[in-house]
Amino acid sequence: MGRSCNLFFALAVLILLHHHTLLATVPNISTDEAALLALKSHISSDPNNILASNWSSFSPVCSWIGITCSSRYHRVTALDISSMQLHGIIPPHLGNLSFLVSLDISNDTFYGDFPVELAHLQRLKLINVRSNNFTGTIPLF
Ligand SMILES: *[C@@H]1O[C@H](CO)[C@@H](O)[C@H](O)[C@H]1NC(C)=O
Ligand SMILES: *[C@@H]1O[C@H](CO)[C@@H](O)[C@H](O)[C@H]1NC(C)=O
Ligand SMILES: *[C@@H]1O[C@H](CO)[C@@H](O)[C@H](O)[C@H]1NC(C)=O
Ligand SMILES: *[C@@H]1O[C@H](CO)[C@@H](O)[C@H](O)[C@H]1NC(C)=O
Ligand SMILES: *[C@@H]1O[C@H](CO)[C@@H](O)[C@H](O)[C@H]1NC(C)=O
Repeated sequence: MGRSCNLFFALAVLILLHHHTLLATVPNISTDEAALLALKSHISSDPNNILASNWSSFSPVCSWIGITCSSRYHRVTALDISSMQLHGIIPPHLGNLSFLVSLDISNDTFYGDFPVELAHLQRLKLINVRSNNFTGTIPLF
């Protein structure tokens, strides 16, 4: 009786641990928030203080300017920061926005390499990077 109880307990602990590690690898809206805050931190110039004042972890990501979320999955589906005079680089973290369908960063002054991580986004259908200063090639989607 005592032994089977111990066995049951050990099994329950194993299942809980496994469940916990599984949960830790499933991306959620916090993953999206981290990716967008990484983008914000790579923007060196935001002359109109658009993101500086609006993209704050004190307000929900889905209410941030330029962000659209899926109400069903509660994940970011569109990012539109076009024509905001933003200057900076696009960090690889944007490749974690696994529900992203539409990306519009046109008519800003982003430079550097366009991260290959974005090519892994399976739902991405619309991408507008027109009028920026990227070097190298934009990975094919
Ligand atoms: C997102 O997942 C992490 C674990 O990876 C968890 O700690 C966090 O509470 C989750 N956030 C939401 C909003 O579900
Ligand atoms: C951010 O901008 C959106 C859209 O203009 C607005 O609805 C929201 O209230 C703003 N949030 C903050 C914290 O300023
Ligand atoms: C590009 O951005 C500038 C600055 O925000 C704006 O004045 C201009 O109308 C934009 N041009 C296009 C083609 O969207
Ligand atoms: C997101 O992406 C970056 C760079 O590609 C990575 O370092 C980071 O660990 C990723 N995961 C999360 C949950 O932010
Ligand atoms: C790209 O960089 C060049 C030279 O640094 C600059 O003249 C040009 O205005 C930039 N283009 C944009 C869209 O920022």
